Amino acid sequence: MDTIIEKITEDDHKNSSIYQKASEILKAGGLVAFPTETVYGLGADALDADASAKIYAAKGRPSDNPLIVHIADTDALYELSSNVTEEAKKLAKAFWPGPLTMILPKKEVVPDSITGGLGTVAIRMPSHPVAARLIRESGVYIAAPSANTSGKPSPTKAEHVIHDMNGRIDMIIEDDTVDIGVESTIVDLSEQVPTILRPGYITKQMLEEVVGEVRIDPAIMGSVKEGVVPKAPGMKYKHYAPDAQLTIVEGTLPKVIEKVNNLTKEKEAAGYKVGIMATQETKDQYTGGIIKVVGSRESEKTVAHNLYAALREFDQMGVQYIYSESFSTNNVGQAVMNRLIKAAGHTIIHV
Ligand code: TXA
Ligand code: MG
Repeated sequence: MDTIIEKITEDDHKNSSIYQKASEILKAGGLVAFPTETVYGLGADALDADASAKIYAAKGRPSDNPLIVHIADTDALYELSSNVTEEAKKLAKAFWPGPLTMILPKKEVVPDSITGGLGTVAIRMPSHPVAARLIRESGVYIAAPSANTSGKPSPTKAEHVIHDMNGRIDMIIEDDTVDIGVESTIVDLSEQVPTILRPGYITKQMLEEVVGEVRIDPAIMGSVKEGVVPKAPGMKYKHYAPDAQLTIVEGTLPKVIEKVNNLTKEKEAAGYKVGIMATQETKDQYTGGIIKVVGSRESEKTVAHNLYAALREFDQMGVQYIYSESFSTNNVGQAVMNRLIKAAGHTIIHV
């Protein structure tokens, strides 16, 4: 399949034809990748079961892993959900458009194939202007997972989408203004107490300011306990993973740096290529390896923004082992650590 690749420019006349083309493709049951404020999405008409089946094929995604439906105005909530709770209304008002996904009881119109057979549906209203305009102009609700091959880091740049999806989908809309860099916060409102199934830019504290008590799915940080199964089906898979073997080193900074330096020396002596996920504050203290600054320890936001691109860059360089510092689990740092732990397949060294 030839993939149409179009870049959003300043020139609205040219852009208009891009949206027109993308809308035609979506309405005809095709696949379009587009930027959002979190990561790139791979979109299809959510109410067309055949169209969304193509998403699973293009990504190699397990069919039990449900998709998020993207909408452009709040009315759509009532079209898709049979029970829009008071909490959902309040959260929509506070955080939409934005990086929050709500799980609600689904209506009949939502095909079982996009909800993995669950009685609920995930809904999000993105704030990215390209995403919002595409949903509006096409007039369809867009089912969209992240636009990566299943299991790989989510795409935050058009080149990542092209790498994974060129030749597999109908169109890619390029616009490298993806801001946050990690996927939306998912909150399950089908339970008594709202529960975070995936941490993101919108934190527990921010949600609690609007709806009171919010829980966190105990499986979020992974290996809490044997047999703790995450409620978001997608969170049970090894995920966001580079080809290289990623290890997180956790502890006080001087000890972490010492350990990473020793491990790097060992692996390099054995002939391996090693990458180090460093920060602004620590980068000068590493003595070997390929050092990549992922952000500043002072601001988890910067780390979230660069995380997936850094993992992909290491792969491109043919790195075999990656060592990463761990990060504070405050605010968006919790989302960063959740993704890192999954990418590392729970390989964490405590020093
Ligand atoms: O920021 C985002 O959310 C991005 C952009 C494109 O919007 N999308 C995204 O989609 O991250 P995806 O498919 O990569 O992740 C969706 C997650 C999966 O872990 C899936 O299991 C969970 O949402 N999910 C979807 N529907 C669900 C449901 N009804 N109940 C529980 N979890 C659900
Ligand atoms: Mg994903």
